[in-house]
Amino acid sequence: MTFRRLKDADLTGKIALVRVDFNVPMDHGAVADDTRLRSALPTIEFLTSRGARTVLLAHFDRPKGKRVPEMSLKPILAPLSALLGTSVGWADDCIGPAAQAAVADLAPGQVALLENVRYHAGEETNDPSFAAELARLGDLFVNDAFSAAHRAHASTEGIARRLPSYAGLAMERELSALDIALGSPQRPVLGIVGGSKVSTKLDLLKNLVTRLDKLAIGGGMANTFLYAQGHDVGASYCEKDLAETARNIIGLAGRNNCKLFLPIDIVVAEQMAPGAPARVRGLGEVDEHERILDAGPETVARLKRAMENSKTLVWNGPLGVFEIPPFDRGTVAAAQHAADLVRQGRLVAVAGGGDTVSALHAAGVADDLSFVSTAGGAFLEWMEGKALPGVEALKI
Ligand code: 3PG
Repeated sequence: MTFRRLKDADLTGKIALVRVDFNVPMDHGAVADDTRLRSALPTIEFLTSRGARTVLLAHFDRPKGKRVPEMSLKPILAPLSALLGTSVGWADDCIGPAAQAAVADLAPGQVALLENVRYHAGEETNDPSFAAELARLGDLFVNDAFSAAHRAHASTEGIARRLPSYAGLAMERELSALDIALGSPQRPVLGIVGGSKVSTKLDLLKNLVTRLDKLAIGGGMANTFLYAQGHDVGASYCEKDLAETARNIIGLAGRNNCKLFLPIDIVVAEQMAPGAPARVRGLGEVDEHERILDAGPETVARLKRAMENSKTLVWNGPLGVFEIPPFDRGTVAAAQHAADLVRQGRLVAVAGGGDTVSALHAAGVADDLSFVSTAGGAFLEWMEGKALPGVEALKI
């Protein structure tokens, strides 16, 4: 993939419009996790240190084209100013006179944040006149929001078609990590896909079995595969209507020489509650009142061996109900083993998706994998092999 890169841009005296993803978790009006703010800093600092005027475009939540006060970006202003060590300007609209005045107020090296682009309906419809209104605020466009790149919106796609456009530093880092994992990886490549529903990850599973050497399926979705193979899953969550689909995926994996790893033992309990009595069972030993809530020790041991015999790991979704101990054990053990192998230089491990990031934090290894993407939907669409409009618009 070839993109226009920020380091090649002529920034002298320029106004840079930068799309960032500040759709951060909030708690009572305060930023609860500033990871996404921090990841935007290198690009902002690159621009300011070269004397560009920097104008930040972002969305927050889904106000659906209306001004919803609870979805304002204003609460981001103070934490962002603190992280940058300088006061960030503000406009309570992303187009029109308020935005133009905030941009006009900027001296070289200064930064302004504009109000939620999704307050305008034209953002999500990628309306050409709204994109043109945004574009007229600056001289060039920088997209640093991989996690919003699966949206063909005015501030991600439309604007990139109107101005000289560049991948920001976080975007570049994300794209090169993803390329190492799935584009041109060192083989063998192992995937781990977990989470509860096969139905939300069908495209992803179908794509991965054609591209990976090995794929481990865990979490609730593994129940559907076990059921499809004739194993009793008791009272477990299971999408029985997808049994045929699961068998098709198993067949597709076989035709593509992708070795599938389904659980060989499981952890069950009658209740999904913290500290609930848990038992290890073999396949076919699940009682009718029991629910499968984690991968068993043999399954985890085999997964660890598969990691040791791989060069690259790509991971999305937990192996069990990691939010509720003791059903976090499988996910935690697997995550810690992946992190050990990365530290030893034996494995490149890339993980992403909301639940996965929380699980890695719970395992204490979120900073120890080769790359962890904070993107949710964009990471999934990338794993599905789909072109991301915001990325496509940056290609040369
Ligand atoms: C995210 O948080 O995944 C991105 O900001 C995209 O948000 P969206 O799903 O509302 O488009």
